[in-house]
Amino acid sequence: MVNTTVGPMAGQTVLVTGGTGGIGRATAAGLAAMGARVGITGRDIARTRAAASEVAMASGNPAVDPFPADMSSQAEVRRLAAEVLAAYPRLDVLVNNVGGFWATRQITPDGLERTFAVNHLAPFLLTGLLLDRLRASAPARIVTVSSGAHATGKINFGDLQGEHRYSGQHAYSQSKLANVLFTYELARRLDGTGVTATVLHPGVVRTGFAAEDPTPALKAVLPLIRLFLKTPDKGAATSIYLASSPDVKGVTGTYFAARKPKASSPASHDTAAAARLWQISLNLVAGTEWLQSGYPE
Ligand SMILES: NC(=O)c1ccc[n+]([C@@H]2O[C@H](COP(=O)([O-])OP(=O)(O)OC[C@H]3O[C@@H](n4cnc5c(N)ncnc54)[C@H](OP(=O)(O)O)[C@@H]3O)[C@@H](O)[C@H]2O)c1
Repeated sequence: MVNTTVGPMAGQTVLVTGGTGGIGRATAAGLAAMGARVGITGRDIARTRAAASEVAMASGNPAVDPFPADMSSQAEVRRLAAEVLAAYPRLDVLVNNVGGFWATRQITPDGLERTFAVNHLAPFLLTGLLLDRLRASAPARIVTVSSGAHATGKINFGDLQGEHRYSGQHAYSQSKLANVLFTYELARRLDGTGVTATVLHPGVVRTGFAAEDPTPALKAVLPLIRLFLKTPDKGAATSIYLASSPDVKGVTGTYFAARKPKASSPASHDTAAAARLWQISLNLVAGTEWLQSGYPE
């Protein structure tokens, strides 16, 4: 049994989105093993509860809490944030891990394209709704899981949601570039608050990624290459490092891979694009709660 009073993350509370499987679950297990209280999210109630019990068992730390919520719905993200705020008087780390790939264009309950909504707008909204609690818990960290695929991404402001033309690969790399632009803009806005924002590429990892709606090419190649991919534990290493290591205390606005800072694409440093995306995102999640959350301007 982990001693939650002496581990390196003792006394800290962490929320990991998408903690029922893949990289998120390994991240949750790693941080729980270090003594943190860890909340995990997932879409299905039974699956999220089972994963929380299994992570508690595997880590030897009983303080693992399930927060079921379908983050493709903004109402669900708002409910999730309210439940987290009610359950956790402090929040030291938010790991924005949820993300996926969909080969065909799908629509969320809010009428938005799924990749853009789940991979970018959901962490944008959740971060905003939890920000006051993170600021009150400073020093605090916001860690967002992007991908090396961001480097091939382009923010298509004329057709952000693939209404005219949809490609799963473009939507995915655009959303992962949005993760990096969001993190850099967030870091600029949070400067001096004691809350840091970092972003990472986890490596190519053997998970359930893209399994829901793969392209025919992915479907053919995945079983062949699976054995050569990183294990989820290895894929979680950079998320765990950024969430917990004293080495990166105070480090903000930085992209990491393999636990080291790495140059992100030139497009990710376009501050005008970051500001424009921020404003569009704000409009797409507009609501009174948001305005009251004190999200920094
Ligand atoms: N795997 C890779 O090689 C790789 C490479 C680069 C970047 N990444 C990034 O790593 C992150 C994690 O990916 P993964 O490979 O671990 O994927 P995964 O195995 O498919 O896990 C995704 C997690 O997100 C949850 N989830 C999915 N849709 C959700 C929704 N609408 N609401 C709430 N939870 C939802 C899933 O839970 P339920 O199914 O239980 O709802 C699951 O816990 C993603 O951001 C991905 O873009 C992965």
